[in-house]
Amino acid sequence: MEGNLLVRVEGVSKRFSGVPALQNVHFDLYAGEVHALLGENGAGKSTLMKIISGAYTRDSGDLYIKGEPVGDLTPLSAQRLGIGIIHQELNLCPHLSVAENIYLNREIASFGITDRKKQNSAAKKYLDTLKLDVDPDTLVRELPVSKQQMVEICKTLSMNAQVIIMDEPTSALTDKEIDDLFNVIKMLKSEGRGIIYISHRLEELSRIVDRVTILRDGRYIKTLDFAKTTLEEIISYMVGRNLSEKFPRIAVSRGEKALEVKNLSSPRGVGVKDVSFELYRGEIVALAGLMGAGRSETARAVSGADRMSAGEIFLEGRKITIKNVRSAIKEGLYCIPEDRKKDGLCIKMTLAENITLPSLEIISRFGVIRRGKEVEKATKMKDALKIKTPGIGQCAANLSGGNQQKVVVGKWLMRNAKVVIFDEPTRGIDVASKIEIYNIINELKKQGIGVMFVSSELPEVLGMSDRILVMCNGRITANLETKNTNQEEILKYATQYA
Ligand SMILES: Nc1ncnc2c1ncn2[C@@H]1O[C@H](COP(=O)(O)OP(=O)(O)OP(=O)(O)O)[C@@H](O)[C@H]1O
Ligand SMILES: [Mg+2]
Repeated sequence: MEGNLLVRVEGVSKRFSGVPALQNVHFDLYAGEVHALLGENGAGKSTLMKIISGAYTRDSGDLYIKGEPVGDLTPLSAQRLGIGIIHQELNLCPHLSVAENIYLNREIASFGITDRKKQNSAAKKYLDTLKLDVDPDTLVRELPVSKQQMVEICKTLSMNAQVIIMDEPTSALTDKEIDDLFNVIKMLKSEGRGIIYISHRLEELSRIVDRVTILRDGRYIKTLDFAKTTLEEIISYMVGRNLSEKFPRIAVSRGEKALEVKNLSSPRGVGVKDVSFELYRGEIVALAGLMGAGRSETARAVSGADRMSAGEIFLEGRKITIKNVRSAIKEGLYCIPEDRKKDGLCIKMTLAENITLPSLEIISRFGVIRRGKEVEKATKMKDALKIKTPGIGQCAANLSGGNQQKVVVGKWLMRNAKVVIFDEPTRGIDVASKIEIYNIINELKKQGIGVMFVSSELPEVLGMSDRILVMCNGRITANLETKNTNQEEILKYATQYA
């Protein structure tokens, strides 16, 4: 068996400015297996993968690739050793084409000049493998996040890597794309490659995973055969305790009408057409549907991120005009966006600055930011959301993916809102932190705020909402009481073209 060992990590440790991110961690990967690396946000998963793929160097411990001990790697030397990684936060160049991204720094050239035609047809081969219907000449910035994710995967495939690391590859994919990806993973496995798979969507593991290794707080906890364990056992190792309830539902009596949207249309994406709905104080409404149904577009148009081409919005019975995000915020209507890197987070600013950014007038006096107030407010939010980081002065770029998401949520919670709309609030968030986000949503509900959330995860939709609006093809196809419906009914309306 030893001969088939592609990667072995022995007692690896890593600190960032003195704070340990990994302590004495073990991990191994055999040819032909899918090995999941699991743990809560900030557990050290991405850090370990960056060490194996040469982006970070370890402080101590041993690393063996195909049985050979290796010293410090660089991304290039790791790539030469057959290690490919698909990063959690996408790493593509938005202004370059799909093919240019796939072959970046490895351009296919004839006589020293990039041969676009050859390169495009080479790229096309990998796009076809993933059943990705995209022209290799398309600029990456024109693609939705899910397609960008698939391009990243093509890029790694094209490097012919023997070890393929996927750091949350499915967090932005549609169900259909996930099926295609899993088929590719099975194919790679049958070719004798090893796949390291990181995901917070534990339900999907059973479809592809052979073994799991669990990290907690930067420490190695256990490696298990997937077939011989249960999700409950895995979760208890991840969080170090038994979780009580996955969906902490609370009962709040419904108040007055908080929001009313009448005949809203917006040209973006699939095109939102003639959408009308109501949202009451103390109520949680889920906006369900398949990827591309127009859910995010609806949220964006209502909250001023996109232009509405028709329609009216009433807040607490009063007609309001929303010109842009700023005017929506002034009225007390917030949307917490889906794409945290692009819309939600200033990656170069600190945690404290990010959290207080929308609330500058609250922490300022005569136009000057009172640092004491900033620290106080940000610390409170960091503790409330259990954001894992050594301090609020930490740069947002250095937070783990899930903790970045909590910052995006946190910055809006400081405001006094009438209506809050969340777009995929728990994407990339671990099981225990999901419950923390649900508790925040409940807290808003208790305060009599109207809450709406867009989610692609039906258990979450059914577990947390009072009412469900289903969208399909830009229109609302159903308005369902959560307690009287089920998964099948929602799916029926989600695929029914109105
Ligand atoms: N470049 C960096 N500088 C400082 N701290 C860092 C850096 N990279 C990671 N960390 C810290 O190391 C710890 C582990 O982070 P890591 O990104 O490995 O977590 P993760 O398990 O991938 O979490 P998630 O599920 O949220 O993606 C975190 O506390 C994080 O803040
Ligand atoms: Mg990570």
